[in-house]
Amino acid sequence: MLTQHDNDLICRTGPGTPMGEYLRRFWIPAVLSREIPEPDCPPVRVKIMSEELVAFRDTNGDVGILDNYCPHRRASLFFGRNEECGLRCVYHGWKFDVNGDCVDMPSEPAESNFKDKVKIKSYPAADWGGYIWVYMGPTELKPELPEVGWAMVPEDHRVVSRRVQENNYVQGIEGGIDSSHVSFLHSGLTPYQRDNPDAPRRRNSGVQPSAMVNDSSPRFIVKETEYGFVYGAQRNSGDDEYYWRITPFMMPFFTIIPGGIGNQDELTYSGHGWVPMDDDNCWMFTYSWNASRPLRPGENHPASDLKLDPRTKRATVNKDNDYGIDREMQKYFNFTGIENGSVQDAGIQESMGAICDRTKEHLGTSDAAIINLRKVFLRGAREIMEGSEPFVPREGSVYRLRSVSLIQDRSITFDETVPRVKNPGHPTLV
Ligand code: FES
Ligand SMILES: [Fe+2]
Repeated sequence: MLTQHDNDLICRTGPGTPMGEYLRRFWIPAVLSREIPEPDCPPVRVKIMSEELVAFRDTNGDVGILDNYCPHRRASLFFGRNEECGLRCVYHGWKFDVNGDCVDMPSEPAESNFKDKVKIKSYPAADWGGYIWVYMGPTELKPELPEVGWAMVPEDHRVVSRRVQENNYVQGIEGGIDSSHVSFLHSGLTPYQRDNPDAPRRRNSGVQPSAMVNDSSPRFIVKETEYGFVYGAQRNSGDDEYYWRITPFMMPFFTIIPGGIGNQDELTYSGHGWVPMDDDNCWMFTYSWNASRPLRPGENHPASDLKLDPRTKRATVNKDNDYGIDREMQKYFNFTGIENGSVQDAGIQESMGAICDRTKEHLGTSDAAIINLRKVFLRGAREIMEGSEPFVPREGSVYRLRSVSLIQDRSITFDETVPRVKNPGHPTLV
């Protein structure tokens, strides 16, 4: 559990909050690259950490992220004209470039130099790995772009998506690093199926390695690293082996789901990150990639299969329709009665309330990674409050990582297995 004070400390990320100031020291995914696909295309509005912004791609192909509100009289630049290397406010024609400079002010006399004195808030932006990333922190502290796996492969080797989730971002991340829930929430095995082995199964009903099902109370080990932390779930497999799922948590939002068992260089990996939209909502970004070949249909994260409202990015299966829960399905096919693994996650995370009341929890041994996440976040937020600089990985190369899923002899330890998450030989094809 957390005190109310500490819960607020990690969950609240608006301008001026300690956690908000901490997160602003990282590059943050804002929108998908394909949402602003070509020069002079329509701008996209996006809210990040309670700041309302617009993303656009100018005539040269450069991307910009500006304050949504025009500094003249605060009209929304979402309605702006994206033309000739700038976004022009349609109220009185003031125009701003990707750096936030006012490059035209046709409503003022030609001899006026007022436009040279006006700037709009702008943030550094980068088109990287299928996302438009934004850096909202102090200029002198800007780290390198993270060299995450999906950014290091050609475009047809990855699939990315984003959608809105109606809960605080910490709840999303906690769900993402909670290895224990996979044996339950995403399980296909119900008592009915156990007793009726020939009962039909559905896609996405959660076919897991048998160790996942037979050992539902794994042991968890967590270790802090130069990119955040790594955690392992160890399950019994037969009499002399363990089934390991080892997951890097990449500061400040990202995990890589342990995939299949096999040659790590040839596997497809998927993962997700949760970015604060405001204190009660977050953006769920997903990524799937394969370093050695283009992705095949169906290798994407299940979230990218969801139908979204194009304006709000909210899934059409949502809390208003109880995520499509089907009690017959729950009885005979899967654990939840909810069809898609990502909807199962979103539904259960939203069910905890917009900001989970962590003063009322009872954490167990299976919550080790969650406890560690809070420790890292709280430490960073407190360091901001004290005026010292918190932990931020500065070099992009520390993000060259993948997850590990394997069955091996019980004598091989977690520490011996952890280096396998590093991916130094990742082909740099960008
Ligand atoms: S409000 Fe934007 S130009 Fe006047
Ligand atoms: Fe999940």
